[in-house]
Order: sequence, then C-alpha cells, then structure tokens
Amino acid sequence: MQKYLTCALNWVDERFPLTANWKAHLSEYYAPKNFNFWYFFGSLAMLVLAIQIITGIFLTMNYKPDAELAFASVEYIMRDVNWGWLIRYMHSTGASMFFVVVYLHMFRGLLYGSYRGPRELIWLFGVGIFLCLMGEAFFGYLLPWGQMSYWGAQVIINLFTSIPFIGPDVSLWLRGDYMVSDATLNRFFAFHVIALPLVLVGLVVAHIIALHEVGSNNPDGIEIKKNKDPVTHIPLDGIPFHPYYTVKDIVGVVVFLMVFSAIVFFAPEMGGYFLEANNFIPADPLKTPPHIAPVWYFTPYYSILRAVPPLFNSQFPGVVAMGASVMAFAALPWLDKSPVKSIRYRGPKYKSWLAAFVVSFLILGYLGTEPSNVWGQFGAGVPLVGGADRATVVARVLTVVYFLFFALMPWYTKSDKTKPVPERVTG
Ligand code: HEM
Repeated sequence: MQKYLTCALNWVDERFPLTANWKAHLSEYYAPKNFNFWYFFGSLAMLVLAIQIITGIFLTMNYKPDAELAFASVEYIMRDVNWGWLIRYMHSTGASMFFVVVYLHMFRGLLYGSYRGPRELIWLFGVGIFLCLMGEAFFGYLLPWGQMSYWGAQVIINLFTSIPFIGPDVSLWLRGDYMVSDATLNRFFAFHVIALPLVLVGLVVAHIIALHEVGSNNPDGIEIKKNKDPVTHIPLDGIPFHPYYTVKDIVGVVVFLMVFSAIVFFAPEMGGYFLEANNFIPADPLKTPPHIAPVWYFTPYYSILRAVPPLFNSQFPGVVAMGASVMAFAALPWLDKSPVKSIRYRGPKYKSWLAAFVVSFLILGYLGTEPSNVWGQFGAGVPLVGGADRATVVARVLTVVYFLFFALMPWYTKSDKTKPVPERVTG
C-alpha cells in the first residue's frame, strides 16, 4: 500500500509541487514557539469563512432574490427545507462570529505590533479584508427583505446623498432605482454571493502569502529569523507549523465550535443582537420602523456618524468621520514610532492610549445600538453642550478619544518609556 501511495505522490510531484508546498507552508514552515491564545483567531477566521461559504451555497439553492419572494423564501428555508433552519442559523450566527473573531484578531495586532514592518502588507491586506467583510455583511443583510433589511439599506444608501455635488447620483446608482427596490435586491445579491466573496478569498490568499513571506510575529515582538542555527539555518525559536500548530489550532477550533453550537442551537437571535426582531416582519416601504439600528458590529462607526454634528444641514462631516474611523487602521504601520513592537515592552503611554481606545470603541458600540430617542433620554432632557443631550456629548468625547489614539500615536509611541527587548523569545 505504502509503495503505491509513494508512487502516486511521486507522479503528482513531477507534475505539481505538492510536497514542496506542504513543506514550505506546513511541515517546514517555522513559526515562533511562543504563540498564545491570541494566535487562535487567524485560523478561526479561516474556519468561519469556510462555514459562511458552505452554508451560503446551500442557502442560495432555495433563496429567491426577488422583492416579491425573498422574505417568504427565507421562511420556507426555515420551516420546510430539510435542515434549512440549521443552515440559515449557522450563516446568520457565522456573520456575527466572523466579526467577533476578526475584531479579536485585529486587537492581537495592536497588542503585539504585528502591523509593524516588515508586516505592513499583511496588515493592509487585512484592512482590505475588513472592508470587504463589512460590505459582505451589509449586502447580505438586505437579502431576507425584512423591515430592518429594507430600512437599514435605505439609511446607509441615503448617507451617500450627502456627498457634495455627486451624492444624489451616487445613491441612485447604488440603489438602481429611486427607492430601495427589487433592482437593489438583485444587485446586492450579486455582490453578496459572488463579487465580494471572490475578492475576500483573493485577499485572504494574499494575506497568507505575505505572512509566509516574512514569517509570523509573536507575543514578544522579536524577529525569530534573526537567530538561526548556523548549520541548519532553522530559526532557534521556531517550531514546524505542522504538527505543532495544526494540533494546537484544533483546540481553538473545538472550543470555538462549542460556543458557536451553543448560540446556533440555544440563542440564534442572541437577544436581538445577531438577528433583530424587526427583521421577522416583511419589508414595508410605507412603514418606517421607530428604531433603525445597525447590527452590533457596525455600531461603533454608526455612533461616530451620529456624534458628528451636521454642517449646513448636511450629514457629510459625519459620513467622512465614519469612513475615516475605519480607514485610520490602514495608517497604523506608519504612525507607530516605538522602538519596540510588543505591549510587553511598551511603556505606560501606549498602554493607556490602547486602553482608552478599546473602552471608547466598546462604549461607542453600545451607544450605537440605542435608538436616537434613547440618546435623548440619557440626560433626562437636560441639554449640556449646544443643546446636545448627554449621550451625544459622551459619544462626541469618545469619538475624539478614538481619533486621538491614531493622531497622537507618532508622539506618544516615540516618547514612551520602553523596556529592553530580550534577544530570544521568552515564552
Ligand atoms: C477573513 C479574515 C481573516 C483571515 C482568514 C485571516 C487569517 C490569518 C491567519 C491564518 C494568520 C496567521 C495566524 C495568526 O497569526 O493568527 C493571520 C495573521 C495576521 N493577520 Fe489576519 N486574517 C483575517 C483578517 C485580518 C484583518 C482584518 C487584519 C487587520 C486589519 C489582519 C491582520 C493580520 C496580521 C497583522 C497578521 C500577522 C500577525 C502576527 O504575525 O502576529 N487579518 N491572519
């Protein structure tokens, strides 16, 4: 048997670099030996991507991208298609879990300075992936054609109207009609099932190729390639990715699947955070729901949008701030001037700014889930600054903190009191 398998492998290897690739990317790819909990999320993101693509294919088999049929086709999947409810809940839970995993994955980058040279391109591909993911989630959310799908798309597309001069034409072009309609649903379907997934998968491949070119960073922020065995040229602090990390990643996968299954089977709506109650009502262009709030993963940016006051009655400044709050991540590799990468050797300034950023992000996220009229109730109607209610004032302060984290980074990273970095990884 062994003989035949070796023969078959040789036959393939003479025609396709299978063993060479296996070695280059797995069995002889040396990763730092001190990966911790934070290093699970890259492989988990790949797992969720696979879950989304596979469940998405099965959903598409029964979903109808037609304004007259879409809502009912989703109900049909839930009630009549064999295992349809499971596939749909896996897909809707997968969308939220994708953002949980990717936010933690990005946070790891902030902890250990993984965006710093020579990993700038890994990070930039990551920012591209993040933008794509946001587009995927936005387009996908229109497809069930519920009230939130409809009015969420309406609100977001209308934001483009505020762009000076070309705004109204841009939003008309995006919608394909004068209102969100069947034409909009059809194009969002095309973007959601084919255009963006293709770009997403392409970017993930580029992300991994760039990663394997320069090698992984690690919790110490030390370049393991600088310390190689003089004879074998293998990094002294490296271990082969396979079997060490393939096996370790299985632990992450098992724990993740336990959490994922618990949500899918016991709380697929997650108290309205993963699936909103209003989206179980068919879209009605004549009835605006009282509270239109995006899904939780968009709410920090939505808060920033609402926090920025309009200028000459135009929401454009808020739209620019919202765009900038996402794009700011792309500048990180060039803003960070610290002599060290990892939080372990950084000083109090970076630690404090990172903590302030995370707290601002979380509170902005919370405020974004609250409807505007609740923002008004926070201050029990007591106007504070320029007639703004308390929640708006809080959101404004936090928006400033959010941007200062980026804007002041060159200064506080350069002047911070860092600790000496050891020669070899510490574990
Ligand atoms: C579909 C989404 C994504 C997938 C499948 C993915 C996959 C991966 C994998 C498998 C790794 C290596 C394992 C690890 O370090 O955890 C990795 C590393 C990395 N990713 Fe991602 N990633 C995604 C999104 C992102 C995003 C949105 C960013 C940042 C904006 C990002 C930034 C990075 C960086 C900087 C590294 C190198 C980390 C280090 O060496 O310390 N990734 N990614």
